[in-house]
Parts: sequence; structure tokens; C-alpha cells
Amino acid sequence: MSKPEITEEMIFQCFAAAQQCDDRTGTAASFMDVEEYENKIMYPEFARWARTAGRPDLARLFSKVAGEEGLHAVWLREVYSDMGTPERGEDTARAVEALETIRANCDELMAMNPEGVLEKALMVAIRVEEREYLDIYPRFRDQAIADGDQRSADVYQRVIDSEQQHAQWFETALHDYRQELAATA
Ligand SMILES: [Fe+2]
Ligand SMILES: [Fe+2]
Repeated sequence: MSKPEITEEMIFQCFAAAQQCDDRTGTAASFMDVEEYENKIMYPEFARWARTAGRPDLARLFSKVAGEEGLHAVWLREVYSDMGTPERGEDTARAVEALETIRANCDELMAMNPEGVLEKALMVAIRVEEREYLDIYPRFRDQAIADGDQRSADVYQRVIDSEQQHAQWFETALHDYRQELAATA
């Protein structure tokens, strides 16, 4: 019997893109919403998949990155100290729904093809981190600079460097994981 497929695109639906708004406070709120979603929902779910697949090492990596996404929100919150809980953005709400759909089907898939799910989760994590550090957050940084808000710009730059490191960690993990899978195939 062929293994059931959960596609990379299905998992990529779990990515919520932070939205740049006309005013930088709106941009900051979207940033915090997305970072907190990654911290509390997306990466913890990826970690759960890794644990289910019997890979506590990869679960630890996802959990470590989840913790850093939470820090990213904290760093910006220090600049916008009067901001309460940001509204859940449209794209985050959609991503939460996508993740719930996958979760509903995932346990069965995980039981039958844990390596496939885990490999694709790593591929998606790399894409998420790359989008953030190459495209989305540089635009947020530049908006802050254009508005004369150097403190926010500095936070965004710190976040860019951190997301780049996340992408590198996930690339290394995916490379090693594929080598192990090939060795045991
Ligand atoms: Fe982040
Ligand atoms: Fe990240």
C-alpha cells in the first residue's frame, strides 16, 4: 500500500505572513500577532509532530525556535509598551484554521508516514524563515527608518538576523535528516 501524502503546500498553509500597514503601529501589531502565533501554535505543533515521529532532537529544535519567536514579539513590545494584545490578523486566522485541518488528519498520517510529514515540516520551516528574513521584515525595518523610528528599525534588524539563523538551523537539520533517511532506506 502506498504511503498517504501530506504535501508541502498543505503544511505551508500554516504560515501566516505579517502584513505591512500604512502606519507603523499597524505593522508592529501584525508582526506581534504572527510571531506569537509561531510561538504558541505553529512551531509547538511541528514539535509535536517530531515527538510523535520519535525524533526528540528535532522536537527540541522546533521548541527552541518557538521560544525565540516569542522573544521577537517581546523585543518589539518593549518599543510599543502601550500596545495590548494585537487583534488576530486575517492571515493568522486562516493559518490557524489550516493547521487545525492538518491536525485533524495528521495523527493517522503520522502513524503511517512520519518521515514524510517531518521532512516537509522542515522544508516549510525553511521557507517561512526565508520569507521573513529576506522579504517581509526588511520592508518593516525600512518603513520604520522612513518614519524616523530607529528603535523599531533596530528591533526588526535583530529579528532579521535571528530568522536567518533559524533558516540555517533548519537547513542543517533537514540535510542531516535526509542523510539519515537515505542511510536507513
Ligand atoms: Fe520570528
Ligand atoms: Fe524564526
